[in-house]
Amino acid sequence: MCSIIGYKGASYAAPLIIESLRRMEYRGYDSVGIATIDAGNILVSKGVGKVAEVSRALGFQKMPGQIGIGHTRWATHGGITNANAHPHEACTSKVAVVHNGIIENYRELKRDLISSGHSFKSETDSEVIAHMLEESLSVVQDKVKAFVKVCSKLKGAYAFVAVFSDGTLCGSRYDEPLIVGLSNDGYFISSDVLGFLQYTDKAIFLDNKDIAVVAGENLYLYDSDGNAVRREITQVAWELGAADKGAYAHHTLKEIHEQRKTVLSGMDQNEKDLISFCDILLQAKSVYITGSGTSYHSALLAKYIFAKLAKIRTEPILSSEFQYVLDFIDKDSVILAISQSGETADVLNSVKHAKETGAKVLSIVNISTSSLARLSDSFLTVNCGPEVGVAATKSFTGQLSVIYAVTDRLCGYSLGIVSKKQAIASAIEDVLSLEDNTIKLADLLKDLRDIYILGKSLHYPIALEGALKIKELTYLHAEGIAAGELKHGPLALIDENSIVMVINPRDNTFNDVLSNAHEIKSRGAKIIGISTEPDEVYDHFINIPNFDSILYPLIEIVPLQLLAYHLALKKNADPDYPRNLAKSVTVK
Ligand code: M6R
Repeated sequence: MCSIIGYKGASYAAPLIIESLRRMEYRGYDSVGIATIDAGNILVSKGVGKVAEVSRALGFQKMPGQIGIGHTRWATHGGITNANAHPHEACTSKVAVVHNGIIENYRELKRDLISSGHSFKSETDSEVIAHMLEESLSVVQDKVKAFVKVCSKLKGAYAFVAVFSDGTLCGSRYDEPLIVGLSNDGYFISSDVLGFLQYTDKAIFLDNKDIAVVAGENLYLYDSDGNAVRREITQVAWELGAADKGAYAHHTLKEIHEQRKTVLSGMDQNEKDLISFCDILLQAKSVYITGSGTSYHSALLAKYIFAKLAKIRTEPILSSEFQYVLDFIDKDSVILAISQSGETADVLNSVKHAKETGAKVLSIVNISTSSLARLSDSFLTVNCGPEVGVAATKSFTGQLSVIYAVTDRLCGYSLGIVSKKQAIASAIEDVLSLEDNTIKLADLLKDLRDIYILGKSLHYPIALEGALKIKELTYLHAEGIAAGELKHGPLALIDENSIVMVINPRDNTFNDVLSNAHEIKSRGAKIIGISTEPDEVYDHFINIPNFDSILYPLIEIVPLQLLAYHLALKKNADPDYPRNLAKSVTVK
């Protein structure tokens, strides 16, 4: 969840590190810190807040030295304070560490270190690593041996980078990503390729427990026993420019608007990849689809689409619940994991558990170099470019596009997705032009305590996704409800002060959901209809274009995303960086 970066090379480290942290800030934005080495001294500067403001206030830019590390934090252990911000130094200030992950046994380790005379300045689990390195180096005096010893004692998932006062930069990982970037003038060690992609596209993805050491002008790699190893250099392909927000006020707004194009990229799958992906799916005795948050909503929608068109029965399971239903999974099962980042800990854990049973793993990811893609027997990419806003928008419609492309292949191309691409793009263009309408609705909803969104069949996952967008961007309580379930309980919540949104384009659910809208209206509530046709039951109406009914989900989510964005602005919330959240949730 945190971002970590280390640099050693011919340039000044601080400006490079600040830029890297800015690009990776979506991973956590509670606090930020930098350490550089100058004339054999470690200089540390850190504070609570976002990269731009802390960096400006503390003058990061002017920190001297060509070696350094940096960190943005998403707090897990210890409050959001300056003391808990990384980097953390050991007692003698000869080593400083930035860490991402959770050291599960830090209490025991800390207790032992304190009894050997170490004193701690923070409440974090991470600080133990700095003291352990210091302790080990006093015994073995060799950084690789010290790393081997320290890593062998750590329990939990981690990636960390340490900088030593003699100018050595080292990093290691276990179940958290750590990637070495090789540029013309030096080396980066980063939790994300975005940390160095502006400087180089040559990367080494470290294996679990690998140790990377940059000493002098060279990079050395070791395995967990300290034996020298070689790892392949990968060329990373990415549209860098797309990570900027351009003329838009926020990344989230830009990413919502980009959907007119990105929705098509997910449908453009390489035929060979699509065939091998579908072949694995077709051979499965049982198919489980897993994901977290928005990606779980894609999984839920995939269940309806696969069933309706490809006649394949699948079971969607939240990744955080997956290990508790493992009993069903065996070597004839296929797990389809959906994840924008490909680094979500719950998803990776599900996949690892599944692999242990011999099940095959398919995935749909946005980042083709991610841990999930690497763990998969076959994967397809969403290809929507970097998504910086913490709330998933274009990656959601991108995931749906891949699901439609897979379904089309599975049903012998009877869906005809390729011939519908232009129509899909212009339908999205049409709903994007409804932005003014969503601004007016935001005014109407901004003072409510609760917002309900109803949908049936294909529209139910969209109701859940719309509610998630409103929750995370606006901090209002929003609930997606299966329309037919209303009378089984939630109707009790409705009174004359309620406003209920109803997703109801013309398809085989239309009449039932219209009846539900009437039932709500007769309790005095107001109704906002999202539909292809107006009706007297709607007090407010968002008119979406008539379309191929199976494809409605791609279209109807867009006004809900715009509404959540504009509600956030009305409530003075930062839509790009919602409080308490991080984009990549790499802890359990
Ligand atoms: O990278 P992933 O798709 O695996 O992320 C899963 C969730 O953490 C993510 O969808 C989260 O719910 C978003 N903030 C939703 O907008």
